[in-house]
Amino acid sequence: MPKVLFDCDTGIDDSLALLYLLAHPEVTLLAVLSTAGNVPAQQVSQNNLGWLELVGRDDLEVCLGADAPLATPLMTTEDTHGPLGVGYAELPTPRRAESHRTAAQAWSEITRAHPGEVVGLVTGPATNLALAIRGDPGIPARLRRLVLMGGAFHHAGNTTPTSEWNVAVDPEAWHEVLHAYEELAGTGVALPILCPLDLTETVEMTPDHLLRLADAAGSTPAEALSADDPDGGRSVASNPLVRAFTDAVRFYFEFHREHDSGYIAHMHDPFAAAVAVDPTVATLLDAPVDVELTGSLTRGTTVADHRHMWGRPDNARIAVATDPAAFFDRMIDTVGGYARD
Ligand code: BDR
Ligand code: CA
Repeated sequence: MPKVLFDCDTGIDDSLALLYLLAHPEVTLLAVLSTAGNVPAQQVSQNNLGWLELVGRDDLEVCLGADAPLATPLMTTEDTHGPLGVGYAELPTPRRAESHRTAAQAWSEITRAHPGEVVGLVTGPATNLALAIRGDPGIPARLRRLVLMGGAFHHAGNTTPTSEWNVAVDPEAWHEVLHAYEELAGTGVALPILCPLDLTETVEMTPDHLLRLADAAGSTPAEALSADDPDGGRSVASNPLVRAFTDAVRFYFEFHREHDSGYIAHMHDPFAAAVAVDPTVATLLDAPVDVELTGSLTRGTTVADHRHMWGRPDNARIAVATDPAAFFDRMIDTVGGYARD
């Protein structure tokens, strides 16, 4: 029964990660932490509160995080996720505000309240977590496990030629988190699991997956999105959750068609959520990992020293293989069943 602390920059794919965690019968979601990334942190919080309002979970704490990376100004990516971060979705206006505690406080206090039980999941820049560890270096030892979406190892970057978005926005944050784990090597603290682009770009959602999601939710009409008319208007699915998610992801399909390999969308963050719930869905390879901070061409690049040339201990487990079809089957059943209820 994983207890999950979810730190995200919602975000279209973060949205599905959130829905998966809410939907999963074995997951207890402890809090949702908003970090600046795809859109500013305040907007991320509005999105998180909006999704929770839509599914009737206004009991769940949302904590606002830092509004800028550790050492550089914030860059956001509205061209990828839409002006508000959730594509074309129109989420309900939240009727409540964030929690009184910050995201960094939540990392510290929630892991103290549940020592050894909390699964941390970060699907945005790691700013909140790095700040939290600065103030409370005991966090890694209190986590049951930590999963971060980010990095690119043998794969082209999606932000610079070699860097992935979550790391590129705040390279210092990933650097600090990875160094914190390096210092703990040999103490029995579970190494963080990294879900890099190499793998997450193989997890491609298609319009057919959305049709299956609508079916699984018992949504009528079943056509949540017409594959024949990909530029068609808003979703007409009768189920509000399916409708909102379809409107969100249509923007992502259009972005990928323009900049990537077709009318698909990479489900980076939902895949990381699946790994957080059950790490056996991925093959993991341990290695010393660090982040380039100074290279004029390579700042924000993740580097894995598989041959141990640095003489440093392993500080991370890299997800290197998975079964994307099995992932989508699980995701559709879980979120579809939740939407149906
Ligand atoms: C990551 O970047 C963000 O835009 C996505 O939400 C995902 O977390 C992929 O590089
Ligand atoms: Ca994200």
